[in-house]
Amino acid sequence: MKITILGAGAIGSLWAIALQPQHDVQVWTRSSITRYPLTFQSLSGKVRTYCFDANHIDHLQQSDLLLVTVKSFQVITALHPLINDLSARCKIVIMHNGIGSHDAVKQLFPKHTIYYATTSHAALKTAESTLRHTGLGQTFIGPLSSVISTDNSIADMFNQALSPCYWQDDIMEPLWKKLAINCAINPLTAINQCTNGELANEGYQAQLIQICNEVTLVMRAEGYRIKNGELYQQALTVIKATADNYSSMNRDVFYQRPTEIDYITGYLIHQAKIFDIAVPVNTQLWQTITSMESSYHA
Ligand code: PAF
Repeated sequence: MKITILGAGAIGSLWAIALQPQHDVQVWTRSSITRYPLTFQSLSGKVRTYCFDANHIDHLQQSDLLLVTVKSFQVITALHPLINDLSARCKIVIMHNGIGSHDAVKQLFPKHTIYYATTSHAALKTAESTLRHTGLGQTFIGPLSSVISTDNSIADMFNQALSPCYWQDDIMEPLWKKLAINCAINPLTAINQCTNGELANEGYQAQLIQICNEVTLVMRAEGYRIKNGELYQQALTVIKATADNYSSMNRDVFYQRPTEIDYITGYLIHQAKIFDIAVPVNTQLWQTITSMESSYHA
């Protein structure tokens, strides 16, 4: 397959490396580079250097797959200039933290096959062209609208590249479960400028439980069967599995970049309003991150 990966951040770069043995992969970036060199350290510590093509319009126009790995709030701005260059058969896979870009993506590409994906693989860009795979995870992929049956070979392709990858008829369910983990980990690690692992300390447990209980109420209202304590346990598992990592929101606040808060906690608050559910702890976290962002350049 000819593949273009839109966004050469940590997750986009990780998939570029995973897909390149079997596919013809280029990256698409905001800059005008034509080659993207990357030094990669695998989970076993092995270091290898790669060099990808970048920003070749003919490769984009011939692509069978466009994998979009930019941040949630960048999806539409990044996709807009590409509308007329994607062939009608090009499948689009969107992979970002949080929920909320799907309606705008559907409007932008009404005739294309669109999938959403979520991954818990952890990767860290330690410099512009240095990437470290820091945690093994799993990936879920499924169509934008729930369908009875559709071509799920795309999940096999992702599974061969970086396993495990599972097909999901209702991709919203894993997206919500990942949203719960991000609601729990991201704001707290950003506000307290701590690693994910530090959230395992006793002092954070009451807050983590409250955050997850609020997400549980909204997810149940959305129709998902969530057991008491399930989301908290899942968040704790990720906290322990990624203990040494700084979350993406922690890094965004550290480097004074915009965060994905509106697509994570903000999306939860938006949906909670629809069902008239109070989510005071998450609302407080959303307010704190939002005011931290607005004071960046003060
Ligand atoms: O946003 C992130 O950093 C990741 O989604 C997660 C799972 C919180 C691990 O750091």
